Amino acid sequence: MKILIVGHGGREHALLWKLHRDHPENDYLFTAGNAGMETLARPVAARPVDVETVTAVVRDEDVDFTVIGPEAPLAAGLADRLRAQGRAAFGPGADGARLEASKAFAKRLMDERGVPTARFGVFRERAAAAAFARELGERCVVKASGLAAGKGAIVCGTRAEAEHALDACFVRREFGAAADEVVVEELLEGEEVSLIALTDGKSLLPFLASQDHKRALDGDRGANTGGMGAYAPVSIAHDAFVARALDDIFRPTLDGLAAEGIAFSGVLYAGLMLTADGPRVLEWNARFGDPECEALLPLLESDLLELLLAASPGGEGLAGHRARWREGACVTVVAASKGYPDAYETGATIDVPADLEGGAFDQTGVVVFHAGTERRAGEVLTTGGRVLDVTAVGTDPGEARRRAYAALDRIGGDGLRWRTDIGWREIDRLKSR
Ligand code: AMP
Ligand code: GLY
Repeated sequence: MKILIVGHGGREHALLWKLHRDHPENDYLFTAGNAGMETLARPVAARPVDVETVTAVVRDEDVDFTVIGPEAPLAAGLADRLRAQGRAAFGPGADGARLEASKAFAKRLMDERGVPTARFGVFRERAAAAAFARELGERCVVKASGLAAGKGAIVCGTRAEAEHALDACFVRREFGAAADEVVVEELLEGEEVSLIALTDGKSLLPFLASQDHKRALDGDRGANTGGMGAYAPVSIAHDAFVARALDDIFRPTLDGLAAEGIAFSGVLYAGLMLTADGPRVLEWNARFGDPECEALLPLLESDLLELLLAASPGGEGLAGHRARWREGACVTVVAASKGYPDAYETGATIDVPADLEGGAFDQTGVVVFHAGTERRAGEVLTTGGRVLDVTAVGTDPGEARRRAYAALDRIGGDGLRWRTDIGWREIDRLKSR
């Protein structure tokens, strides 16, 4: 079977690594730009968002199955285009991807279906948005409705911050057309958990809960980032919690999509806030989380390809399938370029020892996923803000974390920085039991 992975970040490297691990006999391609993925798949010159070129690659290479990693090609209709040409693809069409690409759409849908989420308003004008922000009190969250590369949500602790955030959206136009519509919502407090389920549009197959670390600095301080690390599972999001979330959150959302005439298949990913009043949806994504995916797939014992094919249109469906997980925990630590998430330098040389690249995983429990690297003249250079996702499994999160940091210490190059406390909430929680 010939499989194309669309995307070239840490999430896509993890997807490729797991698919390849279960099915080394398949032929793998990916959209070029990742030194780690190159060892498992052949790079093709196509930008993930370039629907025309990706579609042409699938036709010319006679690709059997395309796995779409990032949100932008989903929102641009890549899955629709491929299916229209009779090609199997994993991921929702553009209509389903609106759940992520339009926060206004997602909020209205949740409102209609009684899915617990923060109180909100949707605005096209600054004055009305500011009035609603004042109604919410001192604290609120201002969000560009459209895709803004993870930067479109501004958490405001004071009225002045809210005014500043609204200026960013409506006056300075920092998010461009993504902020033509702006969601203003109540600020929620609690611990955040990411919950991912595969769906064929009818059945839901939940993954383990995971937790991202969005802030740049130790102790969850500093600027918001795309994610500085993740771990799974999360003990407070146990099986009964997941079962309830499926009933109260995922099922009504899927029903709401169906009622809009949207046959959603792929990943439903809920960013949840565990408030004192129960879980609330902060956001929906229509793809695997990054770096959550990197912390989940090393724990997955089931055949990922089988699940992705079953979830995709034309597949056998997910009814009767379940995901099997290995015991223990997984921690992934993001090594980022110095300066990230602000302006950062790229082009630094790094050196990942061969035994950390994933081939020795069964002996060491360690695999390094590449997120922003490129090989040039035999050297691996940094190309992005997030560079590596150093991942390890262990009998518990403490052991997984020790292994991940021990691996990081062996990675050469001085262009990288990372948080030193990934998994701290869970490790503290388990200690205090
Ligand atoms: P979003 O893009 O909607 O996921 O928001 C990004 C991040 O902003 C989330 O992971 C939270 O840390 C924070 N956030 C979003 N909405 C809220 C909210 N209503 N209350 C508190 N924090 C929020
Ligand atoms: N880890 C956050 C995201 O993938 O959106």
